[in-house]
Amino acid sequence: MSDRKQNNKKNFASLTIFDKTYNFPIYNSIEGEPVIDISKLHSEAGVFTYDPGFTSTASCESKITFIDGNRGILRYRGYDIEELAQKSDFIEVVNLLIYGDLPNKNQLKKYKRLISRHTLLHEQIINFFQGFRRDAHPMAMMVGVMGALSSFYQDSLDINDAHQRQEATRRIVAKSSTIGAMAYKYSIGQSFVSPKNDLTFSENFLHMCFSNTAEDYKVSPVLAKAMDTIFILHADHEQNASTSTVRLAGSSGANPFACIAAGVSSLWGPAHGGANQAALEMLEEIGSSKNISKYLKKAKNKKDNFKLMGFGHRVYKNYDPRAKILKNICQKVLNHVGIKNDPILKLAVNLEKIALKDKYFIEKKLYPNVDFYSGIILRAMGFPPEMFTVIFAIARTAGWTAHWTEMIEDPIQKIGRPRQLYSGNKALKYGIKRSKKNTR
Ligand code: ACO
Repeated sequence: MSDRKQNNKKNFASLTIFDKTYNFPIYNSIEGEPVIDISKLHSEAGVFTYDPGFTSTASCESKITFIDGNRGILRYRGYDIEELAQKSDFIEVVNLLIYGDLPNKNQLKKYKRLISRHTLLHEQIINFFQGFRRDAHPMAMMVGVMGALSSFYQDSLDINDAHQRQEATRRIVAKSSTIGAMAYKYSIGQSFVSPKNDLTFSENFLHMCFSNTAEDYKVSPVLAKAMDTIFILHADHEQNASTSTVRLAGSSGANPFACIAAGVSSLWGPAHGGANQAALEMLEEIGSSKNISKYLKKAKNKKDNFKLMGFGHRVYKNYDPRAKILKNICQKVLNHVGIKNDPILKLAVNLEKIALKDKYFIEKKLYPNVDFYSGIILRAMGFPPEMFTVIFAIARTAGWTAHWTEMIEDPIQKIGRPRQLYSGNKALKYGIKRSKKNTR
């Protein structure tokens, strides 16, 4: 038990169940809401808690990322996201997330070298790619190849060996950008471009995506900075669906590559990382500002499945600070690539303005999230929408590996095993006709 938990043991929450009262310790967070420790609830009171979607459940103790959704604050290891986006770079942020503090100059230089030495993939992985259909979504390739790394890097699978754990985190972060770029090249029918280790992480990713055998891609500093900022902003977001998936998969002792592949799968969904592709496709479908009211009506209609993609968040009930930063970068990137008066950006800005004045969005506290503007930037940089979630996944390898490491090193870590409220059949006898109620 952490010191914090020990010190907070004086506060208790009382819960009366079937006339008997039980006390459960309350632990104060360093910042944010306190938590009630109900880990003894079942053994003492014989009941479980029921919390679909974990809206009121803290699944672990963590020191990595802090979010205040009401004030629109996001911090990695205590540092504000705005400051990191301005002053840091992605690999420094990876180091910060995994090791807990900003590295000094020498440590950073060494870490960057270690990461860049891991950007190459085993030659046989190239054969592995040939098995995918050309029209496969690049996220399908990310999921498959990420999991397959466990068959190639068997010297970093022992989760009980700290050195192997660190080696695995470096491999995952470094190789994710090469895998992402290869998935892109494969989907457009071009040959793979090898990484260049004298480039930064973000420059290298752009190089692997946009150079080809006939032409070298000159990486522009404006686009490299935008790419790096996008990676920083997506690097971690505490216990979201994909990170919780990585932790849950890892809690059984599964190897790190398999756990990260599970995280990539969870991220793919349109309610999570897939929303950046969905947001741009939605803007293209809306087409013009004159259609905004029609689509807002659809978003508010409970009978219609349409949602305003890139809007709303489980935690932020205020403007997502990442969306604010991206909105500012958006115009810079468009100017740089010579897109003047982009109709999609104009539409996005108008849609945001109108939605934020709408009673439905005000009452439900729905604001633009990180996915609302990122697609416009990535499209201007030359990426097709299918690559947006891949880019998110590359960035999020930082957070996933940091959380996976924290979980493995947590002395009270146990296999994750939620319970259920059973609502199925009572015991049936095989061969005896089922009642009408039970017939499917
Ligand atoms: N458009 C219209 N209505 C919305 C939207 C939206 N984008 N988001 C939430 N609502 C409504 C819900 O219908 C619900 O209404 P109700 O109270 O009348 O039932 C209410 O607002 C609360 O929303 P929930 O879905 O309960 O909130 P939850 O925390 O479960 O979901 C989520 C958050 C999944 C992000 C949701 O806002 C959404 O689907 N947004 C669009 C997809 C998106 O942009 N996802 C990216 C999230 S950021 C990320 O993963 C990186």
